[in-house]
Amino acid sequence: MGKLSNQVKVAIEKALTERIEALKEIVAGPELIKGFDPTLPGRRLPAGHLHPITLILNEVCGVFEKMGFSIAQGPEIELDFYNFEALNIPPDHPARDMQDTFYVDDKVLLRTHTSPIQVRTMEKMSPPLRIIAPGKVYRCDSDVTHTPMFHQVEGLMVDKNVSFSHLKGILTYFAQEIFDQDTAVRFRPSFFPFTEPSAEIDIQCVMCRGKGCRVCSQTGWLEVLGAGLVHPAVFRHVDIDPDVYSGFAFGLGIERIAMLRYGINDIRLFYDNDLRFLKQF
Ligand code: DAH
Repeated sequence: MGKLSNQVKVAIEKALTERIEALKEIVAGPELIKGFDPTLPGRRLPAGHLHPITLILNEVCGVFEKMGFSIAQGPEIELDFYNFEALNIPPDHPARDMQDTFYVDDKVLLRTHTSPIQVRTMEKMSPPLRIIAPGKVYRCDSDVTHTPMFHQVEGLMVDKNVSFSHLKGILTYFAQEIFDQDTAVRFRPSFFPFTEPSAEIDIQCVMCRGKGCRVCSQTGWLEVLGAGLVHPAVFRHVDIDPDVYSGFAFGLGIERIAMLRYGINDIRLFYDNDLRFLKQF
């Protein structure tokens, strides 16, 4: 091997020297390449970059990963069971109206939220659990604040003695990491079939700092999250004893956060693929 590697080394050295000599001649050389300056820097190849939605998605996931949440994933083509039934939304429940669903057939649909991953995760793993589930979701809806495909991040934490105050602490920290450190956060009572109690979480308007403007409809607040304590009916679907364990869950829309962070007033800009728009991020 020693002899062989020496031969290889000598061959490479010889080839290099020959090539260097040849190049020197060319550079020093004749008419042919006059004006060629070998010391100029090369031309840069244009490099792409991440889409603004991907940037915000990564940033949001990063905030929760710092707090020990790990990433979970699930299918975009989902069973009615996981998207609705196991989340305490039985057939014909009026809450189904809130989510304009694309059905594939009676039992199969495009997931309308990332909440089914809660159920899939609890089926596979037992508490303590701390996960976030980022992904695409689909609803039959399209205007300046809705696109038929958009992104959500779902969060779930289950353990003994998990309480609403943990939820409050974690979501306040999240809002202040993504927006400003002194952003005020407000928890409003709300309803979701899969949580009890439920809340909607508002942040102080990032445009007017709470004074009231067009973006916040003069209220000074912007709704950014849905959340609550996991409903006992959801736990029972996955054989977790609600008398022993408790948990919280939350869901947020990435496009909404991106629009607020970048000051964008039409969600469709993200998906028009106009480079004049995309190059700004
Ligand atoms: N899945 C809800 C939606 O898409 C958002 C949500 C609300 C998720 C409350 C949650 C929650 O986990 O607790 O509108």
